[in-house]
Amino acid sequence: MPYSDKVLEHYNNPRNVGSFDAKDETVGTGLVGAPECGDVMKLQIKVNPTTGVIEDARFKTFGCGSAIASSSLATEWLKGKTVDEALDIKNTQIVEELALPPVKVHCSVLAEDAIKAAIQNYQQKQDAVEAREPAAV
Ligand code: FES
Ligand code: FES
Repeated sequence: MPYSDKVLEHYNNPRNVGSFDAKDETVGTGLVGAPECGDVMKLQIKVNPTTGVIEDARFKTFGCGSAIASSSLATEWLKGKTVDEALDIKNTQIVEELALPPVKVHCSVLAEDAIKAAIQNYQQKQDAVEAREPAAV
């Protein structure tokens, strides 16, 4: 299967590989797997709780070139976005940007699911913080 130049470029120079401390309250962690092939993607965001802006992102993907490229691209797109803006990232945008063929569409779905899971994890942590420290009225 020929990979597009953009997939190869991300595959050869993946951006933002690594991880943050998952216990950090400003970090959201998403861990998702693709039933189609067994690939696994971990994606993390580091959020400024005051502004809601994603200041940094990391990923680790055990999977095919398209999954690695999709998560690498996702981390690039996440940085500088608010959490709400990040929820609007669609796998179809990743498919378009990377010119993924139909059999590799699920690799981009994995990235969208990982983004959503990371945001959900971050929001759960923030809810817990607020419950512990009620905002002054
Ligand atoms: Fe082989 Fe995804 S199908 S790594
Ligand atoms: Fe399964 Fe890419 S994530 S083949």
